[in-house]
Amino acid sequence: MKFFIDTANVDEIRQASAWGIIDGVTTNPSLIAKEGIEHKKRVMEIVDVVGDLPISAECVETDVDKLLKEAQDIASWAPNIYVKVPMTRNSMEVVKELSPKGVNFNVTLIFSLPQALIAAKAGASFISFFVGRIDDMGSREAAENIIDAVNMVNTYEFPKNPEILVASIRGPLQIIESINAGAHIATVPFKTLEQIFHHPLTDLGVERFYADYLKATGGKVNASSAKDMGISIEEKAKVTA
Ligand code: E4P
Repeated sequence: MKFFIDTANVDEIRQASAWGIIDGVTTNPSLIAKEGIEHKKRVMEIVDVVGDLPISAECVETDVDKLLKEAQDIASWAPNIYVKVPMTRNSMEVVKELSPKGVNFNVTLIFSLPQALIAAKAGASFISFFVGRIDDMGSREAAENIIDAVNMVNTYEFPKNPEILVASIRGPLQIIESINAGAHIATVPFKTLEQIFHHPLTDLGVERFYADYLKATGGKVNASSAKDMGISIEEKAKVTA
């Protein structure tokens, strides 16, 4: 399963890229607004960080003609841009028109299997199935939705061979559900990516290995082993002082 980062913050993208686990980036108008920067400028900064990995940039126009122009413009920013459009009738008209001309679309705000079918038939490349917003309502249907959607794209033929992208992820459990459902992609906020590194037994194990090593070396530790154990050079200096 591919891992995308769901953010418009360049520092977060840079950090997650350094960990070597990022296969793409998704943004949306709320995430861009949070950054307080012009849309194209920020997307081009993201291109500078992730190179040719897929980057989703979302349209805000609603009228067909304006949306058509906006989608063409966003698609022209870089070859790896996936133009994100919400699940509306006008958006589907635009996807149907531009998808055969080579524009890749990420159809977003998908909450039901029939909506996923419409997006797939119109020519979407990514189908963004939202899980967190459904889970927030206390419903269990999100996990089943992903299983059904993956099954659908694996069973039938669609113009762009679409991938199911699990969006609106709030925590590790939804990542587990995405993996078990056979989702192609999960897009994850930076906070959740950070959370994954931590498990009580991992953290305890790192601490114990380090303590044992210190005991055996009489409190001396070299810079590289301190680094391997996730300890800063400053901390290491305290240990060896
Ligand atoms: C991703 O493409 C979506 O825009 C995003 O995951 C939405 O997440 P939210 O429900 O946390 O806003």
